[in-house]
Amino acid sequence: MTSKSHAESTPQATTIVILGASGDLTRRKLIPSLCNLFCKGKLGPEVQIVGMARSNLTEQEFRDSLIEGMEAFDEFSPDSQEWDEFTSRIHYCHGDVASNDDLQALEETLRSVEPAGTPANRLYYLALAPFLYGPAILNLGSTGMAREENCWRRVVIEKPFGVDLQSARELNKLVHSVFAERQVFRIDHYLGKETVQNLLVFRFANTIFEPIWNRNYIDNVQITVSETVSVSDRAGYYDQAGVMRDMFQNHLLQLLSVVAMEPPSSFEADLLRNEKVKVLNAVRRSAPEFATQTVVHAQYDGYLHESGVPAGSRTPTYAAMRLNVDNWRWQGVPFYLRSGKGLNDKRTEIMIEFRRPPHLMFPQDISPNILAIQVQPDEGWHLEFQAKSPDEKMELRPVDLEFHYDDSFGGQAIPDAYERLLLDALTGDASLFTRSDEIEEAWEIMDPIIRGFAAPDAPAPASYVVGSNGPELADDFLAKDDRRWLNRSWQH
Ligand code: BG6
Repeated sequence: MTSKSHAESTPQATTIVILGASGDLTRRKLIPSLCNLFCKGKLGPEVQIVGMARSNLTEQEFRDSLIEGMEAFDEFSPDSQEWDEFTSRIHYCHGDVASNDDLQALEETLRSVEPAGTPANRLYYLALAPFLYGPAILNLGSTGMAREENCWRRVVIEKPFGVDLQSARELNKLVHSVFAERQVFRIDHYLGKETVQNLLVFRFANTIFEPIWNRNYIDNVQITVSETVSVSDRAGYYDQAGVMRDMFQNHLLQLLSVVAMEPPSSFEADLLRNEKVKVLNAVRRSAPEFATQTVVHAQYDGYLHESGVPAGSRTPTYAAMRLNVDNWRWQGVPFYLRSGKGLNDKRTEIMIEFRRPPHLMFPQDISPNILAIQVQPDEGWHLEFQAKSPDEKMELRPVDLEFHYDDSFGGQAIPDAYERLLLDALTGDASLFTRSDEIEEAWEIMDPIIRGFAAPDAPAPASYVVGSNGPELADDFLAKDDRRWLNRSWQH
């Protein structure tokens, strides 16, 4: 990496204020992404970064803790000259976001790093425990730090955004008491992944796929987010959340909405988000008492022995569900979603299974066409179709047409989702951020399901072996619909 000229920079001074700057998110994602943007010349020369946290650190200690933290995660190692240049823009203010006085002190620090006499833009990034979102936002309001006078103020809010529909509505209301919706950037990092953005390009910049992207040609859609990791040291959060709040309400529903949305008339944030909201709105709601018929939930063996997990916890670490999108395009096409921790593979994949030919003139039975969109790793696609085996009478075999970012873009590194999202928030492009109504629609879908499984008479989660493909129950679940999970392992 080499520092480029900063020609792409925004002319006005801008400060990125990370609230909760001593946590993992800052070290693992925010600082490496900002440093990468800096090295690529995409962070303007006028950008400063100010971290605030309760740890009593000097500025130098804070900078040192960032590099130590990043080295520990082994994900990032900038060369020392770049790092020195970059860190000269990092500042620290010790304080508690829940204290009005401490935010006044932060305001003083910000003024000391911002050019005197010219208002600077500010991006407040809430890298905080969710219970602090409310106090932080209210204090930003009461100290006048959210006011826009010849400058902009934006706030980035991490997930989880609420724990159910009601709390999400209350949080939206609180946020809107201080910030207008156009100033709010709710992050779902899945939307920042290149392959997810590419899905929009795939669908709407090509003419050949759109005519078949509907119930006439598609039999079912399967979205899988499988993880090998366990909950490790996150049990405090995870046991309250479970897989449905942690993965389905946000990442999986976002993937579903990008697969199923109608084309907006232009790539403009609100037009795009309107279409996603319409999809979520069309997802059939389930009554809590029927949730167990459309969802399978399970817990990996050994979860109860993880440190911090309460005895007898019924928190699911795996779920598989069927959702229906009740509109003209998707009527009758089931969307199967599944996600779990402690599985055999780290993989995010969207599988589109097409219908079989209406009549088969060949004696041999064949598998239907499949389009696999590999969101991660080995980002790319596979289109599986039938071909005649050479030198045989009429023997058919599935073959594979593939595209991989690696091959087609000369090995160019795929940036972390946070790089894209931070840059978009700085430039004010909210296309890849979740709007307030979108969050609420997603909770409306998940709430009854979560409540259904929380009922005293709900079945206990099934169990599955760590390193397996998930519970057998998930296979039975699809078998009841006369379908099976498409578990392909393509070699590339
Ligand atoms: C986070 C969840 O939002 O996404 C984690 O809280 C999960 O539990 C992570 O591990 C998965 O993200 P990625 O980008 O590694 O697939």
